[in-house]
Amino acid sequence: MPEEKIRALRETALARISAARTVEELEAIRVEALGRKGELAQISKEMAKLAPENRARAGKLLNSAKDALEEALELRKREFEQAALSARLDAEWVDLTLPAPGLRPGSLHPITQIQREIEDLFVSLGFMVLDGPEVETEYHNFDALNIPSEHPARDAQDTFWLTDGNLLRTHTSPVQVRGMERFRPPLRMIAPGRVFRNESVDASHEHTFYQLEGMMIDRDVSVAHLLYFMKALLREIFRREVTVRLRPGFFPFVEPGFELDIQCFICGGAGCPVCKHSGWVELLPCGLVNPNVLRTSRIDPDTWSGFAFGLGLTRLVMMRYEIDDIRLLESGDLRFLQQF
Ligand code: PHE
Repeated sequence: MPEEKIRALRETALARISAARTVEELEAIRVEALGRKGELAQISKEMAKLAPENRARAGKLLNSAKDALEEALELRKREFEQAALSARLDAEWVDLTLPAPGLRPGSLHPITQIQREIEDLFVSLGFMVLDGPEVETEYHNFDALNIPSEHPARDAQDTFWLTDGNLLRTHTSPVQVRGMERFRPPLRMIAPGRVFRNESVDASHEHTFYQLEGMMIDRDVSVAHLLYFMKALLREIFRREVTVRLRPGFFPFVEPGFELDIQCFICGGAGCPVCKHSGWVELLPCGLVNPNVLRTSRIDPDTWSGFAFGLGLTRLVMMRYEIDDIRLLESGDLRFLQQF
């Protein structure tokens, strides 16, 4: 009987459809059951022999079997597509809020950090931050600072001379001269910057390093003012009260000139390897501006006086972080820089 055949066929085909694992399997089932030469087509042929009333009943059954199978095939196919899509989403999923792999935020060079701290301090005390050229004239680097031509600092050993008679500045002091040329007293300025010396490089000597110059010109400026500002500076840098002492030091542009020492933190002045058993660490040269220097920049030393100091930023960073090789600072070595 075709009706039984149809029912049986419908059940088997439906079972196969739900058991199918791939789109290809589904397609094979479709061809076998619904194809032009498939099982249903075969039955439909046989139905020609049936009596008309039976034929109509069988026809209905056949059509509904056909619809049911088509629908089941379609559903199953969509399930496969869904599964494939979610597998792909799983495989390709990215968290867009994660930081990109392998990227590390940069940081400021330790010299820049200390420079900015000191700038902030002096700006709060009414000082300007001035800049000057790294290629300087002989006049600004030497003559105007009362450094006579026979002075050893002018020795070709120390200075990088350019063929046009200019030079790479050997200190930030020429910015004092530029400051006096540009602004009239009273005057408070600092000038951080890069300086150059023709040195053979080793763990404690570099041809390129950083200084921070300071100068204040006003009426009746004395060594007491100098000490006051230097103590404020050292408190800021070392974040504690420091004991200082002045020793005589010679620089042609200051008179009197000093070397300012701080009492060693490590041993509290008792003597240790860091202070070479003296109890004191030499920190910065300073002094009262030599009247000749004022006069050269057309400032009357009878009305005005001033102090100046030259802080070695490179040396300061080395002290702060206990860096024992100056070459690391200009090396660009990321293993070094990433520590700051
Ligand atoms: N310019 C001097 C140097 O580099 C340092 C200094 C600056 C000394 C200001 C005294 C006053 O050696």
